[in-house]
Amino acid sequence: MVSLRLTLLIFLTILNFPFDHGEIVSSKPQGIRAAYWPSFTGYAASSIDTSYFSHIYYAFVLPSPTTYALDITSDDVEKLLEFTNATSLWNPPAKTVLSIGGGGGGALPGIFSSMTSEQYSRTNFINSTIKVARDYNFDGVDLDWELPSNESDMSNLGLLFKEWRETIEYEANATGRPRLILTSVVYYASTVSFDGGPRSYPTVEITKYVDWVSPMCFGYHGSWENFTGLGSALYDPNTNLSTNFGIGSWIQAGVPSEKIVLGMPLYGPTWSLQDRNDNIIGAPTTGTGPGSGLLVYSQVIDFNKENNSTIVFDNTMVSYYSYSGDSWISYDDVRSIELKVRYAQSQALGGYFFWALGQDLDWAISNAASETWLN
Ligand SMILES: *[C@@H]1O[C@H](CO)[C@@H](O)[C@H](O)[C@H]1NC(C)=O
Ligand SMILES: *[C@@H]1O[C@H](CO)[C@@H](O)[C@H](O)[C@H]1NC(C)=O
Ligand SMILES: *[C@@H]1O[C@H](CO)[C@@H](O)[C@H](O)[C@H]1NC(C)=O
Ligand SMILES: *[C@@H]1O[C@H](CO)[C@@H](O)[C@H](O)[C@H]1NC(C)=O
Ligand SMILES: *[C@@H]1O[C@H](CO)[C@@H](O)[C@H](O)[C@H]1NC(C)=O
Ligand SMILES: *[C@@H]1O[C@H](CO)[C@@H](O)[C@H](O)[C@H]1NC(C)=O
Ligand SMILES: *[C@@H]1O[C@H](CO)[C@@H](O)[C@H](O)[C@H]1NC(C)=O
Ligand SMILES: *[C@@H]1O[C@H](CO)[C@@H](O)[C@H](O)[C@H]1NC(C)=O
Repeated sequence: MVSLRLTLLIFLTILNFPFDHGEIVSSKPQGIRAAYWPSFTGYAASSIDTSYFSHIYYAFVLPSPTTYALDITSDDVEKLLEFTNATSLWNPPAKTVLSIGGGGGGALPGIFSSMTSEQYSRTNFINSTIKVARDYNFDGVDLDWELPSNESDMSNLGLLFKEWRETIEYEANATGRPRLILTSVVYYASTVSFDGGPRSYPTVEITKYVDWVSPMCFGYHGSWENFTGLGSALYDPNTNLSTNFGIGSWIQAGVPSEKIVLGMPLYGPTWSLQDRNDNIIGAPTTGTGPGSGLLVYSQVIDFNKENNSTIVFDNTMVSYYSYSGDSWISYDDVRSIELKVRYAQSQALGGYFFWALGQDLDWAISNAASETWLN
């Protein structure tokens, strides 16, 4: 668990939803079907097939550690232009959201902590996010703070959401433009209880000011542990490390289900088995497996094919694993993704998101999720 911090990846989405004045705009919502575009991998924004998505998140830009305004480097400008240019090619169109932060760890969580702790720095940050979002024609802004480290971070986050939403509404009124969407990536559960004392997200402010939150329902196990495990199980009869537990905790904490967007990974953790004949979930491992501990979906499928892997669908936990020789891989495939999307609908969630674009194989997973949601 400690190592959810190591999860490199996080992201979010947007929508034309009824939240503003509480009126239901459409009786059959298309749902938030989102994915993050990592600007740093070389995967072209023009390759995104938006038939599968309602919202595309740009990942990421960062705040300055001194002024807290967004620090848009010349690299960022190039990527932002690539992204903005690509949106005009997308058919159908998709909403776009500028995501700020990310899972890199390092100084970033501390920068968010200082930024949110004073009114002037919150204002600098907020105003700059609106300016950059408008300059590059985004439909919304998204925060990915991994993770607030104590109760005071959590209550300052609540203040940020309040002031951010008020400023966004003020700006929309003043300019006559549609209000920017405001979303946030969050931990899979509403309370974080590792690496410091338990602290809970500001669910009152989230409910009031944020369009939706995007729990990262992945990273439950990984090669930092010396046993195999599923990185994104829907259910786990033995521990709280499951999507059902996390989503349930958000609903229990009072966040309306339609403001919860279920995160799903297009990558999975890998291990090397200590004994290749002991290949069950929980089997002892000696270290990382293929891909230095992480393979994206398309690589998992290639690996399984070329190495004649044994593939197991775990019906109880609703996820996949495969093994070949001493390599052991946890991942999601079409069937588990379909079941997770059905689960999201059964809980009346707002939708789902994927981390990340460029990791699917011929859109197999993106298509399965979208088809399941819409049909
Ligand atoms: C984006 O479009 C602008 C204006 O058409 C063009 O000058 C620029 O080179 C394009 N940038 C990228 C990265 O595609
Ligand atoms: C931030 O934006 C608000 C609303 O547009 C404006 O009133 C305020 O002066 C701005 N503050 C700063 C520090 O730029
Ligand atoms: C909470 O965490 C932040 C960031 O690590 C730290 O700067 C701050 O002093 C902590 N606050 C309390 C009350 O512990
Ligand atoms: C924006 O306009 C709406 C509708 O006229 C109004 O209810 C709201 O108070 C305004 N918000 C701000 C921050 O000015
Ligand atoms: C796995 O790690 C735990 C905790 O660090 C340790 O107690 C245990 O002996 C290790 N198991 C193996 C098989 O190395
Ligand atoms: C799981 O969560 C429940 C409810 O928050 C808590 O009471 C229980 O102690 C947790 N179990 C574990 C193993 O952490
Ligand atoms: C098959 O397994 C070997 C040994 O682990 C690995 O080097 C190779 O990359 C795998 N094939 C694919 C397509 O991943
Ligand atoms: C996988 O199976 C095929 C067909 O049985 C065989 O030709 C090939 O050598 C096997 N590959 C590995 C890596 O075991």
